[in-house]
Order: sequence, then C-alpha cells, then structure tokens
Amino acid sequence: MKRIFYFLAVALLLIACDNKEQQTKMIETEVPERPAGQTDVLQLTAPPMDTVRVGFIGLGMRGPDAVERFAQIEGTDIKGLCDVEADRVEKCQEILEKLGRPRATGYSGSTEAYKEMCEHDDIDLIYIATDWIHHAPLAIYAMEHGKHVAIEVPAAISLEEIWQLINTSERTRKHCMMLENCVYDFFEIATLNMAQQGLFGEVLHVEGSYLHNLDDFWPEYWNNWRLDFNMKNRGDIYPTHGIGPDCQVLNIHRGDRMEYLVAMDTKSCNGPKVVKKQTGKDCADFKNGDQTSTLIRTVNGKTMLIQHDVLTPRPYSRMYQVVGSDGYASKYPVNQLLFRSGQLDESETADYQNLNAHSALPAELCQAMLQKYLPSFVQELEETARRIGGHGGMDFIMDYRLIYCLQNGLPLDMDVYDMAEWCCLGPLTRISLENGSAPVAIPDFTRGAWNKVKGFSYAFAKK
Ligand SMILES: NC(=O)c1ccc[n+]([C@@H]2O[C@H](COP(=O)([O-])OP(=O)(O)OC[C@H]3O[C@@H](n4cnc5c(N)ncnc54)[C@H](O)[C@@H]3O)[C@@H](O)[C@H]2O)c1
Repeated sequence: MKRIFYFLAVALLLIACDNKEQQTKMIETEVPERPAGQTDVLQLTAPPMDTVRVGFIGLGMRGPDAVERFAQIEGTDIKGLCDVEADRVEKCQEILEKLGRPRATGYSGSTEAYKEMCEHDDIDLIYIATDWIHHAPLAIYAMEHGKHVAIEVPAAISLEEIWQLINTSERTRKHCMMLENCVYDFFEIATLNMAQQGLFGEVLHVEGSYLHNLDDFWPEYWNNWRLDFNMKNRGDIYPTHGIGPDCQVLNIHRGDRMEYLVAMDTKSCNGPKVVKKQTGKDCADFKNGDQTSTLIRTVNGKTMLIQHDVLTPRPYSRMYQVVGSDGYASKYPVNQLLFRSGQLDESETADYQNLNAHSALPAELCQAMLQKYLPSFVQELEETARRIGGHGGMDFIMDYRLIYCLQNGLPLDMDVYDMAEWCCLGPLTRISLENGSAPVAIPDFTRGAWNKVKGFSYAFAKK
C-alpha cells in the first residue's frame, strides 16, 4: 500500500512538472498592423540611375573610410558631407581633393545640420555613420525626403525604431539597407556559396559573434556614446556582425524564419572599471554583462548561437560557424572546412588521403576550396577590394554592391527586413534577460511574407 502511494505521489509530481513546463510562456511583443495601402518591400527596386549622388552623415572614426572608398567607385558623386564637428567635414573634403574629386557641400555645427542636406533634391542616397541613437531618426527623415538610406550597424536600437524604419521604407518605397559588412567577407561569401551548392548537406546550426575588446577604442568615441550605451543597456546590443552571415546561410525570411530566442549574460565585471577609467566616476549599475549569449530557434528547426563581448581580454573573433548534416565550416580562430566523404568532387580531393568526418581538411586544400567557391563577381573584385580595403576588402565589396544595384535598378542584397531581424536581438535579448532568460518570440517583420522569396541570392543586371 505504502508503495502504491509512493508511485502515485511521484506520478502526480511528474504531471505537475509537465504542466508547469507547458505553462512556460513565450513572451510576445506587439506586431503593429501594416497601415492601409502599404505593401511589403521584398525585392524592392528603384529606377536605375547612371550616377548615384551621395550624402554622408557622421564622419568620426568610421565615416571617412567610407568617403574614401566611395570616391574610388565609378558612378558616384559625393554631394554632401555632414558632421556636428566642422573639422571632421574638412578632413573628408581633403580626402576628396586627394582623390581628384570636387569638394562637396559641407554641413556642420549641430546635430540637426543633416536636415538641410536631406532636403536638397540633388542627392539620391544618404549614408549614415553616426552613433547608434541617431541612426534611425536620421534615416527616417532622409526617406521622408525622398532619399534611399544606408545605415551603419546597428541601424536601430529599439523595436519602435525598427517598425518605424519598416513602415517608412514601405510607405516611401525607398531602400533602407543596413551596412552589415561582415556578410561580404571572403570566407562568409565562399561558404555561403558552398552551402547553396549543398556541400554541407542541410545546414542545421550556425554560430556568430562579436568578441572584440574595445579598451583601445573607448576614449575615441564622440561624447563617450558607446560606453554610455553599454552602461545603460543590458543584452546583445551589437549583434549584427554575428547574426548577418548566419541569417543569409539559413535563408531567413527567404524560406525560414527565426521563431524565438533565449539569452543569458554574465554579471558586469569590467564595465564599471572602464567607466571609472574613462570618466573618473563610480558606476554601481553597469547594465551590460561582460559576455552575453543568445540561442535562437527557427521555424524549420535550425538553431543559432550568437555571442557578444567587448569587455574581456581575448582574441578578436566573429566565431562564424556552419554546422550541416554533411559538412562544417568555421572561421575563427583558424579557417576550417570538413566534409563527409562523397560530398566533394574527386578531382578536388585527388591529392589528399584519409578525408573523414572528424578532422578538418588540410589547410592548403581548405584555402584552395575557399578560393574556388568565391562567386565570380567577388573573384573579379578581389584585387581592387583588397587594395582599396576596409576590413581587408569586405567594406569595399559592400559599397560596390550597393552602388551597382542602385545603378542597375536591382533589389539590394540586404533589405529593411534583414535590418529588422538582425537588430531586434538588442531589445529582445534584453526582454529575455530581464525575465530570467525566458523565451521571447521574434516577430515576423515581413508581416506574413517571410516565405515569398525562395533562398538568398545576389541580383545582377542582364548582360
Ligand atoms: N561595420 C563596421 O565594421 C563598423 C566599424 C566601426 C564602426 N561602425 C559603426 O559606425 C558608426 C560610427 O562609429 P564611429 O566609430 O565612427 O563613432 P565616432 O564616435 O568616431 O563617430 C561618430 C560621428 O558621428 C557624428 N554625429 C553624431 N550625431 C550626429 C548628427 N546628428 N549629425 C551629424 N553628425 C553626427 C559625431 O560628431 C562623430 O563624428 C557606429 O554605428 C558604429 O557602430 C561599424
């Protein structure tokens, strides 16, 4: 009898646990209804333009390099240069002169000076490289004034901003692209091509990160904006370098959709010390953990692991990794590829014995494959990209593709929904963390159209 009672008690406990598990609530955020008369901007195109007339806003550490790259791309006309600080505008005028380009109209003196530039009708594209809190308001103003926008990462820092950018792009039919350069790095582009050709089998799991100690950079940011943002915000506030290449390889909103995430962070250890060093003040409530990890599951049953750490000493890493049913790629700390036997053409592996499913390919075969699988447009651009540079050439490829697509009236490689999906990790990881790592639903930013486009691809003009 005692025994029966014991088993009954355990069974009831298990049922209770099971029910409790089922009660774990997914936190959902509001998806605003699409305003009447507005349609999605998937595959958005604009009339082709021979010359793309560009205005730059934000000329601190990052902006001038973009000005320099654009000045070396044919079919661009740099019309405007804007920064709060006049001397930064002047430095960029000197870059233009050095490269044989005419001086542009300069705008400076206040955080509102950009408005005059956006109101001019001799500009097609506004390129924004300010601190994060200015990105979305400036981009919205520019689109409202008939300009396409390209915005540095992360383009938006809240769900409100994300939805505003989507609604403005949908209503004005202007391109709104986030300048996520890491999707153009050679390793990422080559492995994306391998994935699309089925070399990894079915891609099941991906990883990405931004692990970059910023000790040398904190003193350089304008008005200390970056440390200030880290101090006030918990969560993965700089997720786009890690998640961008992952989303392209998983065809997010092109056949799959991120369904929910959970996040976990460490306590904040080094943040307060950096604040003390930078400002001389004590900081008892530094919000951002030294390390934040996020797990995401997609509707098609894939997983993603994204990490953020800008405070501990460790080697730079974007930890890009692709785990497939029949192959594997990893970029940090060293490039690695691995394929099940039979995945590769015999001609590719003829000189190599003992390829197996638990050791990476020999380094020289790995390198040869990475080169071979670079799409032809990248092979054609490679020499110029490496010479002009920008993180080894990927920044140039990004700018080149943006201009090429605008000139040819093609859809851009990244649309406003990519921006939304990659940026939403900031606010959504914060919600998860503030609720004991609870699962948080990732909105369908396309509002029902995530399965309309089949697979990620680059657009090219018909020859
Ligand atoms: N994609 C990458 O690899 C990469 C690398 C570095 C920086 N970034 C991004 O680039 C952006 C700029 O970073 P940074 O390192 O150059 O910062 P920074 O502090 O050096 O420069 C920001 C500049 O923006 C200007 N500014 C701010 N508000 C303005 C406004 N309303 N109007 C005109 N100018 C304004 C400031 O005067 C300053 O010159 C950030 O979004 C950052 O995340 C991206």
